[in-house]
Amino acid sequence: MVNYLVSSRPPPTPPNIGERGAGRRIHLSAPHLAGDELDRLRQVLESGWVAPAGPTIAAFEAAIGAATGFPHVLATSSGTAALHLAYRVLDIGPGDEVWAPGFTFVATVAPAVQMGAVPRFLDVCPKSWTLDPGLLRAELRAASRRGRLPRVVVAVDIYGQASELDAILAACARYDVPVLSDSAEGLGAIACGRPAGRGARVAAFSFNGNKIVTAGGGGALATDDPVLLARARHLASHAKDPAPHYQHSATGHAYGLSSVLAAVGLAQVAVLPQRVAARRGIFARYAAALADLPGLAPMPEPRWGRSTHWLSAILVDPARAGTNRDRVRIALEEAGAECRPVWKPLPEQPVFRDAPRAGGAVARGLFAQGLCLPSGTGMTVADQDLVIDAIRGCWRA
Ligand SMILES: Cc1ncc(COP(=O)(O)O)c(C=O)c1O
Repeated sequence: MVNYLVSSRPPPTPPNIGERGAGRRIHLSAPHLAGDELDRLRQVLESGWVAPAGPTIAAFEAAIGAATGFPHVLATSSGTAALHLAYRVLDIGPGDEVWAPGFTFVATVAPAVQMGAVPRFLDVCPKSWTLDPGLLRAELRAASRRGRLPRVVVAVDIYGQASELDAILAACARYDVPVLSDSAEGLGAIACGRPAGRGARVAAFSFNGNKIVTAGGGGALATDDPVLLARARHLASHAKDPAPHYQHSATGHAYGLSSVLAAVGLAQVAVLPQRVAARRGIFARYAAALADLPGLAPMPEPRWGRSTHWLSAILVDPARAGTNRDRVRIALEEAGAECRPVWKPLPEQPVFRDAPRAGGAVARGLFAQGLCLPSGTGMTVADQDLVIDAIRGCWRA
């Protein structure tokens, strides 16, 4: 069996890895280079095609299409840029309601909020930590009776677990509400028999430095709809009308991905299957090594999905564990291992204190007990053992 915890070629140490005490700091999810990034960079530099256009961009978009199953892909400068473009092509405007799970990163809704939309936060399902389709159905029914349906429902993949898109799509189809999939954390995952995001009107992916594969920064918008993709491409490059001079019937953005970064991304997407297997292996090793600790539970994996376990997350129930999430977090930090509480629910964030919401107890419970452990595939077995020992120490104490 391949041991994916130890790469065949040791990755160069990323510059942000600092020394802590006598040992190396173990990061949450450091970039793990595939090995041929330099060759690909050399090729792109020698070709002179370094701008956000040309053959390397086309090849990167094709590679993302192959990995996600989407026929139309636009490479963008970040996942947030892809989300912003998605909201624009879905014609989100001031006062429109955008429904999203509260248990996510702020970038899920930030561009919509900046466009004047009103976010409404729904709770997640304890079995998957993703948008609860039962709650969504009930809320859509009530909204239809009120005569105020959302303009878009955003499904969000979490820590490598894709959302239950079949149920979400069926609920939204009844009211003709489009679904946007924020799959920034879902690349490589499977849900309902399809790659993450597939089936949504539009999906957004991220290739930032901590993701399962990275371009050093970047994102992608993906869709089945060529017209929608053409609009996004137009807006991503300052919405230039066809004319010999600069002419604009709308304002756009500078959201294209540089070919230099796309070259790195191409090398990385090529090893996505290996990275998925390795992240799953890391999660399985944590789960086995910590299985006997009372009150500790790894993130669940629902029957309908196959997570990448981009980040290995655990819950610590203080009533049964005799310790708590923050003691475990501090013990790991002291041992030189970076870890982070799971997402603080957006409706609990000061900026969204007045935002409308439905439920939220599940997300609040996850935030009270949840911790993301070091999950990078550049970790060695010894690194992971150090993490496991530090966690087990909290139960011995
Ligand atoms: C759920 C979610 N949405 C959106 C983003 C934004 O992606 P990016 O950092 O590439 O802008 C991220 C990651 O940062 C994310 O985790």
